[in-house]
Amino acid sequence: MLEDTSFAIHPGKEQQSGAVVYRDIGRLLNYEAKENTYFFNCENGNVAIQFFTDLIVRIVMNQHHEPKLTGSKAVIVDPELVSIEETNGNEKLTFSTEKIELHITKNPFRLSVYDKDGHEIVTEGKRGMAYRENGEVISFKTMHEDDHFYGFGEKAGHLDKRGESYEMWNSDVYAPHNPETDPLYESIPYFMTLRDGKAHGVFFDNTFRSKFDMKTTSNYYTFSAEGGQLDYYIFAGPEPKAVLEQYTHITGRIPLPPKWSLGYHQSRYSYETEEEVRELAKNFVEKDIPVDVIHLDIHYMNGYRVFTFDKERFPNPEKLIADLKEMGIRVVPIVDPGVKKDSEYHIYQEGVRQEQFCKYIEGEIYFGEVWPGISAFPDFTDEKVRKWWGEKHEFYTNLGIEGIWNDMNEPAVFNETKTMDVNVMHRNDGEPTTHRELHNVYGLLMGQATYEGMKEKLNGKRPFLLTRAGYAGVQRYASVWTGDNRSFWEHLQMSLPMVMNLGLSGVAFTGPDVGGFAHDTNAELLTRWTQVGAFTPFFRNHSAIGFRYQEPWQFGDKHEDIMKNYIQMRYEWMPQLYSLFYEASKTGLPVMRPLLMEFPMDAKTYNLNDQFMLGDNVIFAPILQPSVTDRAVYLPKGEWVEFSTGEVYEGEKTHLIHAEIDELPIFVKNGTVIMQGEWNSNKDKTPKHVSMNVYASSQGENYCFTYYDDDGETFAYEGGAFIELDVEVVSNENSVKINVLEQKGDFKPAYQEININVVGQSEGQDIIINGEKNKTIQL
Ligand code: GLC
Repeated sequence: MLEDTSFAIHPGKEQQSGAVVYRDIGRLLNYEAKENTYFFNCENGNVAIQFFTDLIVRIVMNQHHEPKLTGSKAVIVDPELVSIEETNGNEKLTFSTEKIELHITKNPFRLSVYDKDGHEIVTEGKRGMAYRENGEVISFKTMHEDDHFYGFGEKAGHLDKRGESYEMWNSDVYAPHNPETDPLYESIPYFMTLRDGKAHGVFFDNTFRSKFDMKTTSNYYTFSAEGGQLDYYIFAGPEPKAVLEQYTHITGRIPLPPKWSLGYHQSRYSYETEEEVRELAKNFVEKDIPVDVIHLDIHYMNGYRVFTFDKERFPNPEKLIADLKEMGIRVVPIVDPGVKKDSEYHIYQEGVRQEQFCKYIEGEIYFGEVWPGISAFPDFTDEKVRKWWGEKHEFYTNLGIEGIWNDMNEPAVFNETKTMDVNVMHRNDGEPTTHRELHNVYGLLMGQATYEGMKEKLNGKRPFLLTRAGYAGVQRYASVWTGDNRSFWEHLQMSLPMVMNLGLSGVAFTGPDVGGFAHDTNAELLTRWTQVGAFTPFFRNHSAIGFRYQEPWQFGDKHEDIMKNYIQMRYEWMPQLYSLFYEASKTGLPVMRPLLMEFPMDAKTYNLNDQFMLGDNVIFAPILQPSVTDRAVYLPKGEWVEFSTGEVYEGEKTHLIHAEIDELPIFVKNGTVIMQGEWNSNKDKTPKHVSMNVYASSQGENYCFTYYDDDGETFAYEGGAFIELDVEVVSNENSVKINVLEQKGDFKPAYQEININVVGQSEGQDIIINGEKNKTIQL
């Protein structure tokens, strides 16, 4: 009908030419240094450069104003005082730290970073930094033929992201999760490039919808955003591990999680009543299948109102939680951000009266539909709201709860756009701005509110938080599960590169729904998935309403026994896992790693999707196909010992490995060590014996590692209540020498010694511990 009016000649209806025109930053006009920041005026915009360390440089382009250097939600450190040598030539400026050089050509303004040997790190060519009139900002960077890309947070598809393009916009995607499904729940606008065995990283700290394109053109890649500044950091590496340490130096590392959160989690949407939960817990105990956590999905609440229990379904939550804890099991309830619009509901009343909810600029509360029906959403961008929300968690901690599961925090809304109106005006700690700008950090800030609130209420105990949505830095507050996957073999396959890339993006504590969330799982898939899950950082079996139940006993004795065995193995490996989580909390290195992280010179590892490592010395090669009992396994440099058979395999070779349904191929690097505990019972999960399995090599190996332990649930370690052993293992054909180089901390574990098990000791090899022929390390 409108076609009969002037609308027929509406300017928006004109055919666009298709060519996108960017305005280049142009020529450098002048520059000055203020404190440790350089400000550059260019023909068409302004640039600021800050050296955070001598290996980390930040670049900010603002087309309108002087670049704004504050307000990041991700970055938690200030630049260090870095000594810079500056040279100003006719055509070029150079800024050198001890480790890198930044070159700027003046006309046009182009910026390139090199290492001290002149290797290119990040460079610009014909195109550099630019923008469009609609506010889009873009950076063009040179792409080399042998560049491989990793990270980007939670993405479907393969490990190596070369030839792909990705968007960052936190999205609730129930279905499908295909290789091309993008974006998903998390936005981590960060990647690492591997070129000729050397690595560097880029973090684009822009919270608008953003895009990374390594696909459209073969000689350059771009990163761009719908609005905001072109604000990015370059991490010079040069090893993959160094890149990650640099990235997590500025965005933070995971706090040491409570040990119980590293155990097995059982979940279902939903275990709907107290009886059902009790029955479930009883089953685990009677069957001696380990479980640390039972999750309560949305049915526990009264009409899906957060901070309530449905008293018909759960008449006495406090007693339920206490009884389960007595059995060695903790309860983690789901908490979504949507607060039901209900004038008789105290949280809603408080939220309205105290102005805790997101509003439009005109003052109206934003309402959207989620599980409870029409709901309001706390404005987590405001300190006052974060505090309020955090305080509310007293409801849970008073019941004995120590962990929270945050879901739907993209935020997800049941409407066409799947989220909140982008025009909503967030308070943003005194610098109001739109949801369009802050959408991607809503989940991160909900995580902050929840983590900090729980920490305060738990009086010295470590909280656990699980989240679906997040932004760079989410690792500071939460572990991440990868959302609504399905019981497909393809989803088991895809989960490995996804979790490995999350690990390369600073998020060390992650995992998918084991068994698959939607769709009906089956015995073989669940069994194979449980074998993998036993060694992924986060280990939770979760399934959806309307689909088959998938607890470990649902598919007969044979499969139950296998799954029980692997879940118990998880606990036997706990000393090893916990030491790796300790390392992650100190360095940002992931617990689960792609092989390229340890073998960056080996091109065969660059897109190895179906194998992964725990730490630096163990490779897992699970079966990821139905009806398959043989698979190719690539082993990099070194000698590798299969964990259960003790068979030795040569490195830099692909082997055909046989694995029946009860077998998961695990290869330990010869000459290294793994720490092993034991499974006791659900009630008492603390190992009374810990051993050090030393893989005796006769090839002249030298290995160092750190063993860490503490009470597993409080912050007492901050005051010295921990035990840390820095151990060196030197093995050759005559001896295996194990030296404790340093022992720190004063924690007294339940075991008083560490037994040494030497695997593959050859005749003539002496075992020498701290200079003596011995079998134990006394603590
Ligand atoms: C979302 C979550 C899922 C949860 C369900 C009900 O789909 O991703 O894990 O079970 O909501 O709360």
